[in-house]
Amino acid sequence: MHQTTRSILSLLSRGTESSGEAIADLLGISRAAVWKHVSELRSLGYEVKSSPGKGYVLASTPDIPYEVEVHRHLAPQALGSSIIYITECESTNLLLKRRAGEGAREGTVIVTNSQTAGRGRRGRTWLAAPFESLLFSVLLRPPLPPRELFGLTLVAGVAVAQALHKMSYPAKLKWPNDILLGGHKVCGILAESSGELDHTEYVALGIGINVSGYPAGTEYRCTSLSEHGPTPKRAALLAALLTSLQEYYAKFLDGQLPEILNLWRDHSATLGCRVTAHTALGDIYGLAKDINPEGGLILELDDGTETIITAGEVSVRMHEGGHLSERNPAPR
Ligand code: BTN
Repeated sequence: MHQTTRSILSLLSRGTESSGEAIADLLGISRAAVWKHVSELRSLGYEVKSSPGKGYVLASTPDIPYEVEVHRHLAPQALGSSIIYITECESTNLLLKRRAGEGAREGTVIVTNSQTAGRGRRGRTWLAAPFESLLFSVLLRPPLPPRELFGLTLVAGVAVAQALHKMSYPAKLKWPNDILLGGHKVCGILAESSGELDHTEYVALGIGINVSGYPAGTEYRCTSLSEHGPTPKRAALLAALLTSLQEYYAKFLDGQLPEILNLWRDHSATLGCRVTAHTALGDIYGLAKDINPEGGLILELDDGTETIITAGEVSVRMHEGGHLSERNPAPR
């Protein structure tokens, strides 16, 4: 958005009527230029009313996560300092990884309304209802070796769950970092990283959340925020999620993973359930007892021994009788 358009938006956002003349004087531009920028705002979805002799008034803002809208709700911080909004793209993770390779700064966010090739965990496709979801990726450059990154994926889940709780959505976590409402998936998180053995170049942390709708035809029932409370505006939601991610990412880097994992336990929908973990070596059945200090899932097998399920190649199915049941769990 042009800087002058932004300034006019900020003037109109004060809620009072502003005449074209007053705006022109204040910004040192012509009234025709004011009109041009107001037209630009209208084309972006802002409803600007004008009455002859009185002036312009901002009647409503669009439900689109433009940078300027997100920044209205976001205190200055690293995560989200630069927000790139794109109407439609292949995948925000894919785009962000390209930008990361070109040297984009930590905290850069790409957000879209719709993806043509959304990526899910374990090479799956992520489907989302266009304009009814919040689909974004945040660039992180944690000064950690890749072996310490698994905890970060659980940290992201906790950050999202905490933000949703603050907004009164009773979110639960399914290991490792799916977010559930009423037992159904409302949000998925995909962390893709690049680096060497002892050095992480970047992490593209992608988050897809069903806000006012969810895609038809998925193999398991999912849900949206609007089925569990008021429908938030996506810009405000993104700001809330970035605020929470900033907080928990800072704590994680500060060595507070144990405290964050305690929050994960508090929000868990997995612990205490009998689960099936699908690993590269075959299915493993057991009771989800706890998570270990790195975030791996500790399963108690039928013979009483314990095994730890770690990242990547594993998904978890809850059996009937557990807290959660998925009959058709093949992900989107
Ligand atoms: C999962 O399989 O549960 C993870 C889904 C992650 C989806 C989000 S949507 C925004 C970002 N861009 C992508 O292509 N995927 C992630």
